[in-house]
Amino acid sequence: VLILGISGSPRKGANTDFCVQEALKTARAEGAETEFISLAGLNVAPCSACDICEEIDQCSIDDDMGRIYPLLDKCAGLIVGSPVYMVGLTAQLKAFMDRSVLEKRNGFRMSNKPGGAIAVAARRNGGLEITIQEIHAWMLDQDMLVVGDGPPYSHMGGTVVAYKPGEAEGDDWGLETVRGVGRRVATVARLLGAKYK
Ligand SMILES: Cc1cc2nc3c(=O)[nH]c(=O)nc-3n(C[C@H](O)[C@H](O)[C@H](O)COP(=O)(O)O)c2cc1C
Repeated sequence: VLILGISGSPRKGANTDFCVQEALKTARAEGAETEFISLAGLNVAPCSACDICEEIDQCSIDDDMGRIYPLLDKCAGLIVGSPVYMVGLTAQLKAFMDRSVLEKRNGFRMSNKPGGAIAVAARRNGGLEITIQEIHAWMLDQDMLVVGDGPPYSHMGGTVVAYKPGEAEGDDWGLETVRGVGRRVATVARLLGAKYK
């Protein structure tokens, strides 16, 4: 059973990629299998509102989203991370979210999957929790089960303060919340019947 992690940063291998992978590491420690997708370098166009996915289970846009849909179907839990841009999530992640309407319109295939959010910002008050709420709102729209970072403190999810690539590795407190998200998503997926090795 798979826990999928998606990073919405356009900077490959930078802070958000690192944090989502760190959360997946914890999910693996719980016994889950994991897969990681960085939207950096991928071509995921915004939804064009052609609405063909209301008629058939297919998107009219032929791009990298085509190989993400099957992973959304397959995963038992999802971790989504975004850098904070102008106090919100990135355009790259929003394009992915809008295109994921295919899942909703064709049988709510994300229903009941646990989902956790991670945000990375340069400043402590730069919009971390707002960005997490935006990700949570998308998860609720997909009828997913939103989880946070769990005990011992349990707040909204993974919040990391980092500006230049590599700085996330220095935010020990933030990385604890990130690991908590991985643990929560894997644990709740198991409670819902996911079988790990
Ligand atoms: C266009 C843009 C807007 C940004 N807006 C914010 C912001 O509103 N608040 C903040 O704290 N940091 C902001 N940042 C900083 C990023 O969130 C920060 O550099 C983060 O580590 C980027 O994640 P990445 O390394 O995964 O790309 C912004 C960066 C860019 C490029």
